[in-house]
Amino acid sequence: MSNKAMSVSSLQKMKAAGERFAVLTAYDATFASLLDECGVEVILVGDSLGMVVQGGTTTLPVTVDDIVYHTRAVSRGSKHALIMADMPFMADATPQQAVQNAGRLMKEGGAHMVKLEGGASQVEVVRRLSELGIPVCGHLGLQPQSVHKLGGYKVQGRDEAAAESILNDSRKLVEAGADMLLLECVPAALAAQVTNAVTVPVIGIGAGAQTDAQVLVLYDMLGITPGHRPKFTHDFMTGNGSIAEAIRAYVSAVKSGQFPAEQHCFH
Ligand code: KIV
Repeated sequence: MSNKAMSVSSLQKMKAAGERFAVLTAYDATFASLLDECGVEVILVGDSLGMVVQGGTTTLPVTVDDIVYHTRAVSRGSKHALIMADMPFMADATPQQAVQNAGRLMKEGGAHMVKLEGGASQVEVVRRLSELGIPVCGHLGLQPQSVHKLGGYKVQGRDEAAAESILNDSRKLVEAGADMLLLECVPAALAAQVTNAVTVPVIGIGAGAQTDAQVLVLYDMLGITPGHRPKFTHDFMTGNGSIAEAIRAYVSAVKSGQFPAEQHCFH
């Protein structure tokens, strides 16, 4: 890949040019450096770390300090990728809290962008962060921080009203200043509709092949996550001789549109 560091505007240009980009999670400097070398455009320091690093059953206990710690490590390892850090549960309950916590992720962690879960209820938070020059990615569809309200990790937006609400929320977040969206576990047709409806890049996970980018949890795509493996993941170590080869295969499959395939999608 080129030596140029990725930015919100370079990713927006990729969307405009119809060029897909690859996103993976990482939580430490060594993997961040490898992802960078293998051409991953965005590294997400996800609150999934509460499950895959800390061993929890949900993401809820993750703290701002945890995300700052892991984002700092990732930003030391990465030179090219855009670093997106998750706002953990309740870190963005009010615009004031969001400003303080997003500020910490950027100043102390070195994040280039923050990601937060929620739709219409987060419009004021997104607007304030955006006014202050903090790039924001809105996370819609399955929101793992709401697992107890949702009653489990379930596909969202399957009926007409729920699909309409996700589409409207996407538009509202972008109008409020969101620079990117992430859709998790929604029908492929709905994800395609959202991707066409907004000007900002849309990242999908369990959201079909028509989004502008794809993300997976690193340990899922390396096939080392213990226990249940969600339908939308794929083990890229199978058929590849090293971790670097598996990551390059993922990047290439995302860019060519080979991943996700039909068996990874919801309808
Ligand atoms: O926390 C995370 O890793 C995420 C991805 C699953 C999208 O939000």
